[in-house]
Amino acid sequence: MNEPQHPTSTPVETVTVIGLGPMGQAMTRVLLAAGHRVTVWNRTPDRVGGVLAAGAALAATPAEALRASRLVLLSLTDHRAMYDVLDGATGSLAGRTLANLGSDTPDRSREAAAWAARHGADFLTGGVMVPAPMVGAPGAHVYYSGDPEVMERHRAVLALLGEPKYLGEDPGLAQLMYQAQLAVFLSTLSALMHATAMLGTAGVRAAEALPELLASADRIGAILRAGEPHPGSGIDAGEHPGRLSTVTMMGATADHIVETSTVLGLDPALPLAVRAHYRYAVEHGHGGDNWTRIIDAVRAPGPR
Ligand SMILES: NC(=O)c1ccc[n+]([C@@H]2O[C@H](COP(=O)([O-])OP(=O)(O)OC[C@H]3O[C@@H](n4cnc5c(N)ncnc54)[C@H](OP(=O)(O)O)[C@@H]3O)[C@@H](O)[C@H]2O)c1
Repeated sequence: MNEPQHPTSTPVETVTVIGLGPMGQAMTRVLLAAGHRVTVWNRTPDRVGGVLAAGAALAATPAEALRASRLVLLSLTDHRAMYDVLDGATGSLAGRTLANLGSDTPDRSREAAAWAARHGADFLTGGVMVPAPMVGAPGAHVYYSGDPEVMERHRAVLALLGEPKYLGEDPGLAQLMYQAQLAVFLSTLSALMHATAMLGTAGVRAAEALPELLASADRIGAILRAGEPHPGSGIDAGEHPGRLSTVTMMGATADHIVETSTVLGLDPALPLAVRAHYRYAVEHGHGGDNWTRIIDAVRAPGPR
């Protein structure tokens, strides 16, 4: 497990962590290593052993876990899990700050903030942008949104988990950023598996295929910056000049990937979705534009 980036120079606090999956356990260990007292609770008791051995204290109930600390980190699968855990303990919420670092939709994060406020608790939404083993390591960062004063009150402790990137007051914002980042991540993972399966039909082992494919994925940022030094500025200006590559050219390749995948007997769902973006742009007269023009298709959902 990683040592924290900055051993705490802040006064020792008591922090509660509810939810001891890999992420909650990693957070607990980082906080303990920085010298804080940590109280934990988890639905399934046999997950707590490791962090108790590392020095955490076990609360007997969610209410006891809430009462132990002003700052309560929630590391649960989704907001439904938060209500499952805390609905029976709302009498202990007043005066606490809930920092919910689990995944859900922006709307449900806003609802959760309103729910917490009704019970006298402050609420921060957090999106952790590293896997559990990298919590607290250099380069780790966590997006937050919610009341700025609440953020400042807890910034020093939260910074132990990773650099806090505060996005604004709307509790849905950090969740939206998390979803956007995970949309890139999960789509890329599916693309990597699709490509690995394609090569596998020719006998290329995954251990050979993935390093080649990952090298390409690593180059994407550099390729996009070479085409546009400030990526996104063209999209903001509504400009999509097809200087280096066009929708028509890339759409033809998207066609070929669908055809090849189908012939190879693979699930064509992912290449079909990609192809639909290019076809939409071509059908709307933008075949000569840069690939960024496909954002129009994303912004106009509906049957193609
Ligand atoms: N793991 C990562 O690398 C990573 C990275 C970034 C963000 N995250 C986010 O961090 C959160 C936690 O991730 P994780 O990997 O630690 O997940 P996990 O292994 O699925 O753990 C989820 C936690 O939620 C609890 N839980 C789920 N449903 C519950 C319910 N109905 N009632 C009570 N407790 C419930 C589980 O309790 P039990 O132990 O009793 O099942 C467990 O403590 C997720 O929202 C995830 O998206 C994870």
